[in-house]
Amino acid sequence: MPKLKPSATHADLETVLVSESAIKRRLKKLGEDISHAYGDEEITVVAIINGAILFTADLIRAIRNPIRLDCIRISSYRNDTRSHGRPQLLHSLQLDIANRHVLLIDDILDTGKTLAVVVEMIKKQSPASVRTCVLLDKIGRREVEFEADFVGFQIPDRFVVGYGLDFAERYRNLPCIGVLKPHLQNPPEWA
Ligand code: IMP
Ligand code: MG
Repeated sequence: MPKLKPSATHADLETVLVSESAIKRRLKKLGEDISHAYGDEEITVVAIINGAILFTADLIRAIRNPIRLDCIRISSYRNDTRSHGRPQLLHSLQLDIANRHVLLIDDILDTGKTLAVVVEMIKKQSPASVRTCVLLDKIGRREVEFEADFVGFQIPDRFVVGYGLDFAERYRNLPCIGVLKPHLQNPPEWA
């Protein structure tokens, strides 16, 4: 058996905020809460990719209900002056969600703009219900009023990576969630 070495990218973290084992434990409980909330109903899970890929993959295995899975992709409004700060839909739903119970999953609730816009879009397709689930909630950062129905962890206002969350598309594969070292947050070669 090859000997496990600590991942090189761990060295890029200043602090680990949520460990791999804490994520595993929390997801088990979150899966139970979600199963309980939906009773016997089938759930149409809609994951916002790329950020929610890892979280969704693990979470749905902790949910007992029958599940249909779909993904949507949203443009980041963060560095886009043309979109006037409004997230745009880049890849839309393939499944019909009319009269279905939709559980929308995202990696992190920050200003609230992304989820507020996506919930509005989903509601136009007449689902039976829409609930939201986020792995992380930066509660003090909200610019629009929005609360998720299911939250993995509340975290302080720090830029985090790992377990699906990226900086310039890197670090999504870290098994834990942590804060990047400050000197790595704007390397010119990634611009
Ligand atoms: P919101 O629209 O401001 O709530 O932001 C949601 C999106 O911003 C998330 O889906 C992430 O892609 C991104 N985001 C916000 N905070 C962080 C962070 O700390 N690390 C990585 N991505 C983040
Ligand atoms: Mg992102």
